[in-house]
Amino acid sequence: MKHLLKLLDLSGEDINELLNLADQLKYEQKHHIPHPRLAGKTLGMIFEKASTRTRVSFEVGMNQLGGQPLFLSAGDMQIGRGEPVQDTARVLSRYLDGIMIRTFKQDEVEALAQYGSIPIINGLTDFAHPCQVLADLMTIREYKGSLDGLKMCFIGDGNNMMNSLIVGGLKSKMEVAVACPKDYRPAAEVLDFAMQHPAFSMTEDPMEAAKGADVVITDVWASMGQEEEAAKRRAAFAGYQINSQVMSVAKPDAMVLHCLPAHREEEITGEIFEKHSKEIFDEAENRLHAQKAVLVKLLG
Ligand code: CP
Ligand code: NVA
Repeated sequence: MKHLLKLLDLSGEDINELLNLADQLKYEQKHHIPHPRLAGKTLGMIFEKASTRTRVSFEVGMNQLGGQPLFLSAGDMQIGRGEPVQDTARVLSRYLDGIMIRTFKQDEVEALAQYGSIPIINGLTDFAHPCQVLADLMTIREYKGSLDGLKMCFIGDGNNMMNSLIVGGLKSKMEVAVACPKDYRPAAEVLDFAMQHPAFSMTEDPMEAAKGADVVITDVWASMGQEEEAAKRRAAFAGYQINSQVMSVAKPDAMVLHCLPAHREEEITGEIFEKHSKEIFDEAENRLHAQKAVLVKLLG
């Protein structure tokens, strides 16, 4: 594994190894066992979109590993004025030991990896959110013991989260059922992969997808960059909410996850959110541990 650009590039074994390492790093941190595995290393973090969790967890994670994070706001860089990503990649490769980037186009992340000579980590694109899904899988495994054979249900937009959960879930031997309106399906590349798996299903009916689920997951209806479509999307996704009715057909001990930020009474009711807040905030915490595993694996 040289980069983390999207989960499609990883094997199930790669994912499993990262989750094991994440568990170990979490244990060490909880027991105050220092683990300066990246002493002397610097991670550049390019942000072209807003972030709370990704920025803070990468910064804190790099510090805990004895390395240094460098926050790079794209708006303050020449890349924001049109310097080609190919040149940015080659320059930053001379200074840094790794780059995390949050941006719009997946192609930009792939170009960084192609032209640079250091590991590239996707901190969210319109297409994928692999760091989040590693944390989600880690959290499910913590609560359920193993992932094999569990049913994951995602209700909502065929966005970066749905794309990455489908791939991560199937590669971890989970059953994956998604419910979305027909105009908001996951990316074609993801569907091509998923359709080869009998454990995958897609429907327009949230109740059907949630039936017997061990974990029910959702995300915002309008992602970053889609703010102008918010009203149109609110109408399209009106029936795609995680609420008590949907949860009544899931397993009685089903978990609920949300990558956050959440819009209460849109994709999830406040009631269900609060009922499952322990899981949801464990999930947020696990961003730190899962990303430290990625950093150790790629930069260590
Ligand atoms: N879930 C997530 O990536 O959060 P941020 O946008 O706050 O980084
Ligand atoms: N789908 C959301 C995820 C935010 C973490 C977005 O891209 O804005």
